[in-house]
Amino acid sequence: MEVYESVSELPENIQDLMNKAQQARKKAYAPYSLFKVGAAILLDNGSIVTGNNQENAAFPSGLCAERVAAFYAGAEFPGIPFKALAISAGSTKSINTQPIPPCGACRQSLSEYEVNQGSPVEIYFMGEEGKVVKSSSIKALLPLLFDNSYL
Ligand code: THU
Repeated sequence: MEVYESVSELPENIQDLMNKAQQARKKAYAPYSLFKVGAAILLDNGSIVTGNNQENAAFPSGLCAERVAAFYAGAEFPGIPFKALAISAGSTKSINTQPIPPCGACRQSLSEYEVNQGSPVEIYFMGEEGKVVKSSSIKALLPLLFDNSYL
């Protein structure tokens, strides 16, 4: 895991990706938790796909930002590898400077793409501002992951 002091220290293409995650975060639909998350995925063909959390009055029917973005990428660009994922998250009640990692269910969903493409997906995550943490792969965030080799 690597820590950057701010977005401005990131490689230029990742700064752009994180800016898109931040824009997506602002458009999240999170009226229940008031916790907004934005995600942006850079694909191998140069396209960027974004997502944000979409909540629901029946709470478990909502979905996290990372899965909205990953499933959108899978739906729109099937088979195109993911190169990097940027995540920005925080409560609307205060400014969050703590880097927020993806939840376990999102790690599992994302691992499907990383395993299939056979190359690592870099993950960059942050709060609304401040430090950014980089993980070099999904696998690094989910040791002993369950994949299709067990089926
Ligand atoms: N959430 C995400 O979008 N991604 C995560 O990795 C963690 C949680 C969302 C789900 C819910 O809408 C809100 O944040 C509070 O849990």
